[in-house]
Amino acid sequence: MKSQQKCIMIFALVCCFAVLVALIFSAVDVWGEDLDGITEENCNKNCRVVLVENIPEDISYFDNGTAHLPLSVGLYNLLDKAIRVVEIVSPLWLLNSSDYESSFQPAAKQGRALLSRLQGLKARGVQLKISSGMVDSTELRMLAIHGAEVHYVNMTALTKGHLLSSFWVVDRRHIYIGSASMDWRSLATRKELGVMVYNCSCLALDLHRVFSLYWGLQYRDFIPSFWSKRLFALFNKHKPLELTLNSTKARAYISSSPDVFIPKDRSNDLEAISWVIQEARHFIYISIIDYLPLVSSSALKYWSRIDGLIREALILRKVRVRLLISCWEKTQPLTFNFIWSLRSLCMEQANCSLEAVSTRSHCTTVFTTLETHFISPCCTSCVSVCVCVCVRRSSSTPECRGMAVSRE
Ligand SMILES: *[C@@H]1O[C@H](CO)[C@@H](O)[C@H](O)[C@H]1NC(C)=O
Ligand SMILES: *[C@@H]1O[C@H](CO)[C@@H](O)[C@H](O)[C@H]1NC(C)=O
Ligand SMILES: *[C@@H]1O[C@H](CO)[C@@H](O)[C@H](O)[C@H]1NC(C)=O
Ligand SMILES: *[C@@H]1O[C@H](CO)[C@@H](O)[C@H](O)[C@H]1NC(C)=O
Ligand SMILES: *[C@@H]1O[C@H](CO)[C@@H](O)[C@H](O)[C@H]1NC(C)=O
Ligand SMILES: *[C@@H]1O[C@H](CO)[C@@H](O)[C@H](O)[C@H]1NC(C)=O
Repeated sequence: MKSQQKCIMIFALVCCFAVLVALIFSAVDVWGEDLDGITEENCNKNCRVVLVENIPEDISYFDNGTAHLPLSVGLYNLLDKAIRVVEIVSPLWLLNSSDYESSFQPAAKQGRALLSRLQGLKARGVQLKISSGMVDSTELRMLAIHGAEVHYVNMTALTKGHLLSSFWVVDRRHIYIGSASMDWRSLATRKELGVMVYNCSCLALDLHRVFSLYWGLQYRDFIPSFWSKRLFALFNKHKPLELTLNSTKARAYISSSPDVFIPKDRSNDLEAISWVIQEARHFIYISIIDYLPLVSSSALKYWSRIDGLIREALILRKVRVRLLISCWEKTQPLTFNFIWSLRSLCMEQANCSLEAVSTRSHCTTVFTTLETHFISPCCTSCVSVCVCVCVRRSSSTPECRGMAVSRE
């Protein structure tokens, strides 16, 4: 009986100790957030947004469409604003083009310029923190020599996947999220789109939490079953941040995936995308590399969640859908069958509008068979919103391949 009481007492003491330790740690968490005085309570929601893009060098438009700020200029602006710390997540680090690559791609020098700006941060007293899934990168080693802190996330061990996120957080005030990775091709030869949000510490604080999650996974080979409170999402689908973007009222939250990487309260990407599609009343414009309702892990699997939602929007809600899809050597030929089936769905349907266009000319073999069926009808039936793009073949003079790029 006595020893049982003793046991209970020791157990209670251990519990108290555990609670104490937990409290201390959560206090540390709070202090960590507080370092630069930006908290959830005093953060800024009065934000400025700038769209940035990269248009491949060899594509020229015939229209007078508004060009957004070039991606490289946007990134330089962001670096110029940095005072304390720049945090970067990128799937690739290939900014330094080889001399051979630079010789026939003049814009490749943009990558080198960005790299040297990043190397120059330390001299300005700005910390550079990088989370990367690339284990063996000469570029990251070089940046580390110039004062960058690089944390390696072993995705093979954690999810057997890849780190594909691409974003910057600057001083927990400004952010960049976009399709571009830290690859010179993203600044020269690829179509990229991104968004810079300035003076937006509320959103930056939340994105910083995503960064911190990656940062903390350095050299881990398992995913923790409990995440620190400091990584919980501040905003989500059900409780978005109410902010102003260029004086316009807006709502925003940051989603993430996969689910095993999601601490409490964060919405996952699929939820977020589904919600955006389901809420659309007038139009859905999508710019994406591949449009393919398939996933290939070991074998191909049919995965039609998003495709299904788009069909529903087209047929039931008469939402206008436009797809801007990449077309290159690696485009899966089935892509065109799926797009064709989407288009068929709209045939002879009043107010059903699906336009699908592609940005590149490189997929010669796939396109030759499709030109007559798929590309040309789009071009000929376009009324004012689509323009045909002249595409320069490597050798010959520019010729119109009948591809269209939608621009407002
Ligand atoms: C927001 O305002 C800034 C200037 O303050 C401008 O450069 C930017 O293009 C605007 N963004 C949008 C989406 O209109
Ligand atoms: C572009 O602007 C010029 C002059 O302002 C006009 O003549 C031309 O039709 C415009 N092109 C398009 C595609 O809007
Ligand atoms: C970039 O590449 C050039 C030539 O390949 C090399 O001389 C230079 O040291 C590289 N710079 C960095 C920062 O890796
Ligand atoms: C990453 O994890 C895999 C699987 O656990 C392991 O084989 C590999 O050595 C790890 N890589 C690094 C750089 O630690
Ligand atoms: C950022 O927001 C603060 C507070 O609203 C404002 O005082 C400041 O001028 C803004 N800075 C920029 C660069 O927009
Ligand atoms: C199509 O749209 C027009 C104009 O918005 C509308 O008047 C018409 O009723 C719609 N037709 C159908 C079948 O929804």
